[in-house]
Amino acid sequence: MDPNEPRIRTLITEGQITARIRELGAEITRDYTGRHLVLLCVLKGSFMFTADLARAISLPMRIEFLGLRSYGDGTRSTGVVQITQDLTQPIAGEDVIVVEDIVDTGLTLNYLLDLLRARGPRSVRVCTLLHKPARTKQPIRIDYLGFTVEDQFVVGYGLDCGQRYRNLGYVGVVE
Ligand code: IMP
Repeated sequence: MDPNEPRIRTLITEGQITARIRELGAEITRDYTGRHLVLLCVLKGSFMFTADLARAISLPMRIEFLGLRSYGDGTRSTGVVQITQDLTQPIAGEDVIVVEDIVDTGLTLNYLLDLLRARGPRSVRVCTLLHKPARTKQPIRIDYLGFTVEDQFVVGYGLDCGQRYRNLGYVGVVE
């Protein structure tokens, strides 16, 4: 191993993530029984979470991807968001679950929810793997939550630092 490489301290193990996703999937399956879902993966951070969550839900579903770019200085968001890749089909009349990697200040998600609601879905709920309540600027109703984390910058399982570490199977902190 390169001694100059930063060490990643594990915060949430792969096993803990798998177990929690199984529970979230069962809860969503119960809540939406008899309905069709649109699982909306917010790129890039939630690609891994969406892939695992989708497999834990036993319902007919369509999976959509939305590319977002938040303006900020890399570790801080401003709430100004640009869509870099839009949905391939309308969501009017659909039950949508937005799948996020992390809700930090809440600014990005707040902007996104306004944008989605303007498209006339039947319902929109939020499922996020992580939440950092200490940093909330815009309170958001989170319907399905994986884990709460403290105010520290986390990477892995889809989350990056300068586009690195997304491929880790666990969530950790760069030391
Ligand atoms: P918010 O607008 O402050 O809630 O930030 C949301 C976005 O910032 C997330 O979807 C992530 O892409 C990114 N982000 C916030 N905190 C972290 C972190 O600790 N690690 C990696 N990305 C983060």
